[in-house]
Amino acid sequence: MDKHHSDNKGNITVVENSKTIPFDVKRTYYLYDVPGGGSRGAHAHKELQQMIVAASGSFDVTLDDGNVKRTFTLNRPYQGLLIVPGIWRDLNNFSAGSVCLVLASEKYDENDYIRDYESFLKWKNK
Ligand code: TYD
Repeated sequence: MDKHHSDNKGNITVVENSKTIPFDVKRTYYLYDVPGGGSRGAHAHKELQQMIVAASGSFDVTLDDGNVKRTFTLNRPYQGLLIVPGIWRDLNNFSAGSVCLVLASEKYDENDYIRDYESFLKWKNK
């Protein structure tokens, strides 16, 4: 993603399937009104790809491939974090009024989630 179409009326950022992002978006959802100190995520996906954007405010995303963890602060509406399959993610430090926009490659499927960390490590090492 990038900053596009900026003028004194404001900004527009465009996301196009398979162009700006490497998949076709089948589902969009957003998190908001996350209570102070709250966290989200705490799971991995087997197949799903996602692009996460701080549409407003800021929050941290910690990604973990089972070996290495890295934390990204998202705080620009024109920047997206791509999460490929098989990555554990934790989201926290949501600022007041922040909005976490998620563009997803597949429809909702609970069977695609791994919600237990030990199961995630086993799944990675199989
Ligand atoms: P979950 O993905 O676990 O949220 P987060 O990672 O943000 O903490 O989803 C929370 C609940 O919402 C869970 O019970 C499933 C439901 N849900 C849907 O029904 N459809 C969806 O597309 C999403 C993302 C969640």
